Amino acid sequence: MTTEYDSIDYFTDPSLVPDPHPYFDYLRTKNPTCCPINNNVLAVTGWEESNTVYKDSENYSSCVAVAGPFTPLPFVPEGDDICAQLEEHRTEIPMYEHMVTMDPPNHTDARSLLSRLLTPKRLKENEDFMWRLADRHIDEFIAQGRCEFLASYGRPFSLLVVADLLGVPEEDHEEFRNAFGAQRPGTNVGGLDHEPIAANPLEWADEKFSHYIEDRRKNPRDDVLTGLATALYPDGSTPDVIDVVRTATFLFGAGQETTAKLLSAAMRILGDRPDIQQQLREDRSRIPAFIEECLRMDAPVKSVFRMARKSTTLGDTPVPAGTTVMVSPGAANRDPRRFDNPHEFQLDRKNVREHIAFSRGIHSCPGAPLARVEGRVSIERLLDRLGDIRIDEEKHGPIGDRRYDYEPTFILRGLTEIHIEFTAL
Ligand code: HEM
Repeated sequence: MTTEYDSIDYFTDPSLVPDPHPYFDYLRTKNPTCCPINNNVLAVTGWEESNTVYKDSENYSSCVAVAGPFTPLPFVPEGDDICAQLEEHRTEIPMYEHMVTMDPPNHTDARSLLSRLLTPKRLKENEDFMWRLADRHIDEFIAQGRCEFLASYGRPFSLLVVADLLGVPEEDHEEFRNAFGAQRPGTNVGGLDHEPIAANPLEWADEKFSHYIEDRRKNPRDDVLTGLATALYPDGSTPDVIDVVRTATFLFGAGQETTAKLLSAAMRILGDRPDIQQQLREDRSRIPAFIEECLRMDAPVKSVFRMARKSTTLGDTPVPAGTTVMVSPGAANRDPRRFDNPHEFQLDRKNVREHIAFSRGIHSCPGAPLARVEGRVSIERLLDRLGDIRIDEEKHGPIGDRRYDYEPTFILRGLTEIHIEFTAL
């Protein structure tokens, strides 16, 4: 049977942005293991099958992880094994300098630098900071009884958590908030009281961190940046400053928008489901499960990509070397063969932690523990201080007929804004 979905362009069709799930369901029903879609991409939509691809870093490269079929390849794949071609041209592939597109052994080295940062001690200190930060942001808007949650809380909170994790001194936080466009609500972009937003915040952060790392190598202190600056690769060699810098600044790219999207998805559920809000108010120990179900239902990373570097198969389908494969956490998390009534938000879903919103395998999200704590701390403090959280009906329409806009991207899934009202407690 042919349907409108057979000719739809997944990467550009705006009709798939508000809700991609009917389309994902369609692909899964046709073939959960692998279904050809436009731009010569094979889509994997089953849970089991997605795990298989994620864990197979021998046959699949991450070189196209972010942009998928839109990654301009500087070579034409030839033969059944393109590993040598890939390595020869690696530095011409966009984003090659970030760990998310690397393959072992470079990927292993880059991850080892991160392990210096994400220690249980550092995560605990970072959590202490989160509680203070949550209150600080809430103080900024609570008196108004309403806010646009992403600008007032989600984006600046998730940005400054990464800044703190990396050891950015607190006196520099405001500068980071301005550079990343997450300034205080109500301030003008480029207004007199702020530096203009950097054209490319990640480039700005690269420069800032180069200064920090060079300074700490010359003048070591007892701080996180010194730990990062003096970390060695597993073979005992010293990384170049730029490699340490990129490992650090990539965390802003990877950890800010994703977590902001999780927080806004959680806020939407609180507003749309007063029954769930009440259950959480009565029993805060249910918040972690709530966060997991938000991640399952609305995976902030909608799709990631791999390229077959050796000819292989997906189920019965041959996958020639050079083929781009799309794995969609959003789709896998709603596979009915894994999750009962997958389109239903269930606070007490038994196997909720089997979702793959953080991916699996060697690239699985190293920031997952952090994002989970950000979710828990935020929801707990927001429930403590904001009573009766409601969706602003003037902006989003009445319950049962809500209007929400999602960012028009095939990579991420998240609201563009979410206006809420509440009673200050
Ligand atoms: C709800 C929030 C988040 C979600 C849903 C998320 C999701 C993901 C996913 C799906 C990947 C794997 C990409 C792939 O397989 O190609 C990934 C990788 C990554 N994430 Fe996250 N992430 C989140 C928050 C964070 C945070 C807070 C940080 C750090 C502060 C972070 C740092 C990273 C890094 C460095 C990678 C690359 C890992 C690698 O390539 O080995 N993420 N994330």
